[in-house]
Amino acid sequence: MPFRYYHADRIREKMPEYKGTDEELQEIIDDISLQYNSAIREVETKLQILSDDFDKKHSYMPIHHIQSRLKSFDSILEKASRYGIVDPLNNIDRIRREILDIGGIRVICNYEEDLHTMSGLLLAQEDIELIRMKDYCNSPKESGYRSLHMVVAVPVYLVNRKKIVPVELQFRSIAMDAWASLEHELRYKNKGTLSDDIVDALKECAQTLHEVDERMSRIRHHVLNDENEYSQY
Ligand code: GTP
Ligand code: MG
Repeated sequence: MPFRYYHADRIREKMPEYKGTDEELQEIIDDISLQYNSAIREVETKLQILSDDFDKKHSYMPIHHIQSRLKSFDSILEKASRYGIVDPLNNIDRIRREILDIGGIRVICNYEEDLHTMSGLLLAQEDIELIRMKDYCNSPKESGYRSLHMVVAVPVYLVNRKKIVPVELQFRSIAMDAWASLEHELRYKNKGTLSDDIVDALKECAQTLHEVDERMSRIRHHVLNDENEYSQY
């Protein structure tokens, strides 16, 4: 996985103004690849360990599954240009500071309440620093999108240096993830735009799924508490 995306000759084609040698270019991209992949692996392992320990203590795994990805170099360059970073390959420090989703992890939890449990346990770790949090669960986006986003920084220890590397985390319930995946797919299939009617219909679906999430959570508590009364759920 480490060096899957990034090849100097392909990137040079897109950045003809870059004046460094092939070796210097390869060094830049290998560095990004190694550091961000390592940061992803560290945070992913931390989450898996937390989920395992939760299972040991409470016989329940809050995480349904985890997906991770390293942003493609093309997307990094595209975002850099959107952010007004000119000559990005000579401005790698700005890319590191401003593009915070080069390493991304999506944590799909079973229930909405698990998002807060897992993110809270991760943030409580002393080598994890919270850089930014966007709570689209309590304040959904205009589209209806719900998810808990945060960027954390984690230390990566290399042979002769330590790098603090940001990783973007998206915590979602299964229902939130189902909606976001299908909405993304529909938007993508339709070249990025959807009619107002479809946007409204999707927003309604997001609201319905949110109600299902809340109801499933109530049912879960009911079952765990072993009560007999169902009607209130
Ligand atoms: P980006 O440049 O897109 O990364 O924007 P940003 O840094 O302002 O981040 P934002 O908080 O908007 O979250 C971006 C990510 O959240 C996207 O890459 C998607 O994975 C997800 N996302 C945000 N809004 C939506 C939405 O309306 N629909 C879907 N399907 N995903 C969304
Ligand atoms: Mg993004």
